Amino acid sequence: METLLNVPQGRFQLQRLPYRKHEKLKAWDAADEYLLSHVYEQVNLTTESQILILNDKFGALVSALHAFNPIAISDSWLSQQATRTNLENNKLPSHDIELNSSLDWPGQSFDLVLIKIPKTLALLEDQVIRLQAVITDNTIIIAAGMVKAMSANVWKLLEKYIGQTKPSLAKKKARLIFVEIDSSRQKDLFSPYPIYYQLEGTAYRICNHANVFSRDSLDIGTRFLLQHLPLKQSRAIVDLGCGNGVVGLMLAESHPSSQVYFVDESYMAIASAKENFKHAFPSRFAEYFVADGLTHFKAEMADLIVCNPPFHQQNTVGNQIAVSMFKQAHRVLQKGGELRVIGNRHLGYHLDLKRLFGNCIEIAANKKFVIWQVIK
Ligand SMILES: C[S@@+](CC[C@H](N)C(=O)[O-])C[C@H]1O[C@@H](n2cnc3c(N)ncnc32)[C@H](O)[C@@H]1O
Repeated sequence: METLLNVPQGRFQLQRLPYRKHEKLKAWDAADEYLLSHVYEQVNLTTESQILILNDKFGALVSALHAFNPIAISDSWLSQQATRTNLENNKLPSHDIELNSSLDWPGQSFDLVLIKIPKTLALLEDQVIRLQAVITDNTIIIAAGMVKAMSANVWKLLEKYIGQTKPSLAKKKARLIFVEIDSSRQKDLFSPYPIYYQLEGTAYRICNHANVFSRDSLDIGTRFLLQHLPLKQSRAIVDLGCGNGVVGLMLAESHPSSQVYFVDESYMAIASAKENFKHAFPSRFAEYFVADGLTHFKAEMADLIVCNPPFHQQNTVGNQIAVSMFKQAHRVLQKGGELRVIGNRHLGYHLDLKRLFGNCIEIAANKKFVIWQVIK
C-alpha cells in the first residue's frame, strides 16, 4: 500500500490507525491532495496565518501544513492519534499544533478554514454553526470531499450558515467547495444539538451530541440488545463502543453495585454518555474513556463487557474493528467473565467469537439481529 503522500508542501509518510499489517487503504484521499495543491497555488499564507482544519482523517492536512501551526478539530480519538503518530514519524514538531476535540473550540478567529466533509451531516451542521464564531469577513473557507460524499444537503448547510458556495472542477472524483462569507448574514448560532429524547419505557432523558450513533431515537439493534442484557450481578461492567451510553445506563440500573465503564473513540459519544449517566444517577460514579476500545484497560479487570460494534470506520466497511474489540475483550475479561455482542446477522460475528473464545451461544435473534454470549 502506498504510504508516501506527495504534495507541493512536501513528501510525508502516512499511516492509518488502527494499524493493520496488510492495510489496503491509504491514509489520505484525492480530496486531501486537491485541497493541499489548491492552498499551495492559490492561497497567500504567511507564517502569521491562522489556520483551522476540521475532520482531518489521519493527519494528512495537519502534516502538510504543520509549518503554520494549525489548530485541528476532530471528533475522533483515532484520527487525532494517527495525526500525532504521523507527525512524529515524519519528525515534524508537534508541540505548537493544537488537536482539539469537537466540543472544544478555540476563542480566536482564523484566516483560513479547511473542512473535510464528515460522514455525518449533523456533525457538519454542528461545525458550521460553531464556525460562525471564529470567522471574519476575510476568512477563506474551503470544504473538500469525494464527490460521492457531497450530497445536496452539504451545500445547503454551508449556504444556510455561511454564504454562497462555488464548486471546483472534479479531480480524481474529489471536489472543493469555495464558501463565500455573506457579511450581511444574520449569525445563526442557535444549534439543534445536542438532541434529547426520552428512553422508551424509562424516565431517563438521553442527550445526543451531533456525531452520536442513532442520535434522534433509539436504534433498533440497541433496542433489541436492551431486551436481552445479562442479569447476573457483576463487579465491573464495560460498555464498549458506548455511543450515548444507553446500554451501560440500563446495566447500571439492573446492577446497582457494579462499577460501569464507558468507552468510545468519539468525543461527542463520551460527552453524551457522561451527561446521561450523571443525569440518571447523580450520586453514582462511573468511568469514561475516549480511546481505541480497551487498549488502556488492565488485563482481567472486567467480568462483563457488552458491545454493539461499529461496522464501519470513516467510510471503511468491514469486521476489523469488531474483531479487534473482541480480542481486546478477551484480554480484559477475567476467567469466567462474559462478552455479550449484538450484530447484524449477515456480519457473522459468531465465527470470530467462536475462534477467539472457543464457545459462542446465541441468546436471541430476530429477522435482522443476533445476540451472542461468549464466556472466557
Ligand atoms: C453501533 S454504535 C453502538 C453505540 C451504542 N453502544 C448503542 O448500542 O447504541 C458503535 C460505537 O462504537 C464506537 N467506536 C468505533 N470505533 C471505535 C473504537 N476503535 N474504539 C471505541 N469505540 C469505537 C462508535 O463511535 C460508536 O459509538
